[in-house]
Amino acid sequence: MVYDTILAGGLLVDGTGAKPVRGDLAIAGERIAAVGDLAKASAGTRVDCTGLAVAPGFVDAHTHDDAALLDFPDLPMKTSQGVTSVVVGNCGTSLAPVDLGPDREPPPPFDLLGGRAAYRFKRFGDWRKALADAPAAVNAIGLVGHASLRLGTMDRFDRPADAGEILAMARALDAALQEGAVGLSSGLFYAPARMAPTRELVELARVAGAAGGLYATHLRNEADYLEDAVEEALEIGMAADLPVVLSHHKAAGRANHGKVAGTLARIDAARRTQRIALDVYPYVASSTVLTDDRVRNSAKVLVSWSKPIPEAQGRDLAELAAERGLGIEAMCAALQPAGGIFFLMAEEDVRRVLAWPEAMVGSDGLPHDAHPHPRLWGTFPRVLGHYARELGLFSLEEAVRKMTSLPAKRFGLRDRGVLRAGAFADVAVFDPGAIVDQASFAEPKRMATGIARVYVNGACVWQAGAPTGNRPGKALAHDRDALDYSR
Ligand code: ZN
Ligand code: CU
Repeated sequence: MVYDTILAGGLLVDGTGAKPVRGDLAIAGERIAAVGDLAKASAGTRVDCTGLAVAPGFVDAHTHDDAALLDFPDLPMKTSQGVTSVVVGNCGTSLAPVDLGPDREPPPPFDLLGGRAAYRFKRFGDWRKALADAPAAVNAIGLVGHASLRLGTMDRFDRPADAGEILAMARALDAALQEGAVGLSSGLFYAPARMAPTRELVELARVAGAAGGLYATHLRNEADYLEDAVEEALEIGMAADLPVVLSHHKAAGRANHGKVAGTLARIDAARRTQRIALDVYPYVASSTVLTDDRVRNSAKVLVSWSKPIPEAQGRDLAELAAERGLGIEAMCAALQPAGGIFFLMAEEDVRRVLAWPEAMVGSDGLPHDAHPHPRLWGTFPRVLGHYARELGLFSLEEAVRKMTSLPAKRFGLRDRGVLRAGAFADVAVFDPGAIVDQASFAEPKRMATGIARVYVNGACVWQAGAPTGNRPGKALAHDRDALDYSR
């Protein structure tokens, strides 16, 4: 047997959480062909991985890369971190199915994904086909946004959907699920969804559940009413009998710091009777559209983009307001539409959520922002370098498990997230002693260090600090039998 590639002599961190062992890994076509001692085997390319870790490629469990996959398909912000698959359509705003037409601008927070031209996919299947026709460097699987369904169905957002509108949204959702969507997402905090009652979500979640899909939710409240919002998510999961993924779990605002201890305990208890997963990013600041309520909960705010005042990007909101002799609210209004970075979490909470055994890692990166939150370029190396190696929050193999087999199970990515013969050859090769994020709040686009090579479906996409130009990523379809919420 002659393999295409042998990654020789690396530290195999197989994704399951098992202790790493030294060994070789062979790739043939798009699959891992063998793992073990392959000293006698031959290959087209033999890569010496001495001193390097060889792990499954990372699954970014929470992204907004719906348009980025098509707009900049090499996605160096992903592959430079070892990410080989992304989950898109989070926080209630998916690119598809939404066809805005020629004269409508996407309202906030839809503008986080791109401008009007991005919203051109009437059907979820159209988006998947566009990605299959012009593949990206990484694999992608998509959720359908509740706010996106509302955008396509309702004339206004400031009320509950009526029975006819719920029926129309349910049909659109069901069609998207048939066309490969993995479930429903919501962003109940945001204006387009805020007036949707729990019942509206239950009705739609039932459709997702019937198709074997899941429900991922940006909670209605991550601050003073965090506990109530968690209850609502659990209630929707129970009523619709489907798995719930709690997005970017956090407690926002000084008065709420420490609350995640209670929510994690509550979720642990609920897991005895229902399927629940959770994602988190490794930073104390959040980032989304610039809104007064987020500003009020923050110790400090940076502007990530502003349409009318582009020079504000990267600037401190309070400093900008002082310079212009404006109050904070007036400054916020002048910047609209705009995005912000909000320092509103406690480091202790971030560590507590990250260390929770069920926590997946999701960057929540915003690839279109002018001055993005550093999570876009830094999340995965930061977990491995800062939190695992430097702080010892968990072991290397545990960090890798949170980024690989765990999200692969929860999102049903069959034959991914583990190193074993027969699995897809999504592989990250990195220096476990050196890997670390470089992106900072001041310099958010600095590339992480320590990633040597990245393979997606057997093809090398990242090498020697740059994309190779290969784009072997697949537009994955929901595989209901692969969804696994066992412990
Ligand atoms: Zn969100
Ligand atoms: Cu998000």
